[in-house]
Amino acid sequence: MAPIVITEGDAVVSEIYIERGILTRAGSLMPPNPERRRVVVLTQPTVTGPVEQVERSLSDAGNQVTVITLPDGDAAKSLSVVESVVRDLNDLTLGRADTIFGIGGGAATDLAGFVAATYLRGIECVLAPTTLLGAVDASVGGKTGVNVGGKNLVGAFRHPARILIDVDVLEALPTVLIRQGAAEALKTGFIGDPILVDLYRDKGLAAPLGEVVERAVGVKARVVSGDFRESGARAVLNYGHTVGHGVEIAAGISHGEAVAIGMVAAGVVGERTVGFAGRADHDALIASLGLPISAPGVDGRTVEDLMALDKKRDAGGIRFVVLRDVGDPLVVHPDDATVRAALAAIGID
Ligand SMILES: NC(=O)c1ccc[n+]([C@@H]2O[C@H](COP(=O)([O-])OP(=O)(O)OC[C@H]3O[C@@H](n4cnc5c(N)ncnc54)[C@H](O)[C@@H]3O)[C@@H](O)[C@H]2O)c1
Ligand SMILES: [Zn+2]
Repeated sequence: MAPIVITEGDAVVSEIYIERGILTRAGSLMPPNPERRRVVVLTQPTVTGPVEQVERSLSDAGNQVTVITLPDGDAAKSLSVVESVVRDLNDLTLGRADTIFGIGGGAATDLAGFVAATYLRGIECVLAPTTLLGAVDASVGGKTGVNVGGKNLVGAFRHPARILIDVDVLEALPTVLIRQGAAEALKTGFIGDPILVDLYRDKGLAAPLGEVVERAVGVKARVVSGDFRESGARAVLNYGHTVGHGVEIAAGISHGEAVAIGMVAAGVVGERTVGFAGRADHDALIASLGLPISAPGVDGRTVEDLMALDKKRDAGGIRFVVLRDVGDPLVVHPDDATVRAALAAIGID
């Protein structure tokens, strides 16, 4: 399959390959670069099988390969881990022509992307997401970062040169991770691909992951190519995230589950501000995937405070992405009564 590309102006900045078994061919799919000597693989403890495939393929292609295993999950996304990795890269004398290969879930690819964006002021980065959430969202689009106090407060915008998505790896994921990723995939369907929404409606969590990922990445690549630094158009990718972020922290649930609840709230805002007529179907679809559609017991003040914090950082006030229709998103600034109604609909008052 031809890669999906992300462009900036006329230049292709990222190529995304979605294939079965692609990690066994990682060595031949690296960006052409005769100067490259070394590849440092940054990974998580849970993905040893895929990492072995990558390591073998990169070595067979003539690279010196070093694997560094990061702490699991968001424990990897800290400045102290960045420092420790950079000291290792220094010891290896990793140079400007060399490459960071990040493989794992979104936490590993966020950290790998940040290290690659900042080490020597930026070296080549290739990412191989191994979770569905990573494949449809975290690895694509050039946002990298670590957590300092809040989530992702330190980071850099820099596209990975290539993204290699192995559908075989995704199909082996436990259901809980398929469900969390489905929330973000469905989000991209709601904002940009009605056929992806239909696919989830027809097949539920059994929706074929190759097609899900191609469609979701297609939407994200299209949106990001129009607007890399989130000045406007890219904001639609935050569908479900205004309330979702607050709920994620206040309830301590996964990002995907929080986005599902946030989309339900956004459906209410859409109904009240732009006459979104598909709310019942939208909510039923989210629920049918086994995703939560309310957050009872979550403290409303905490969620509102977290939304107010986002608002302070965002000149225009509280922004909600809403749908006029599936595939037709826009950004609105709802009044307080509408926000309260949206929170009430998800069990927060
Ligand atoms: N940069 C972005 O644009 C962006 C977008 C969305 C999310 N994110 C970030 O992504 C992270 C969440 O992504 P995630 O859910 O992939 O998190 P994660 O990396 O923490 O992965 C979740 C868990 O799955 C495990 N795992 C990974 N691959 C596996 C596999 N193939 N089989 C079994 N287990 C596997 C991981 O070790 C971890 O325990 C957050 O840090 C979030 O901030 C970034
Ligand atoms: Zn998200």
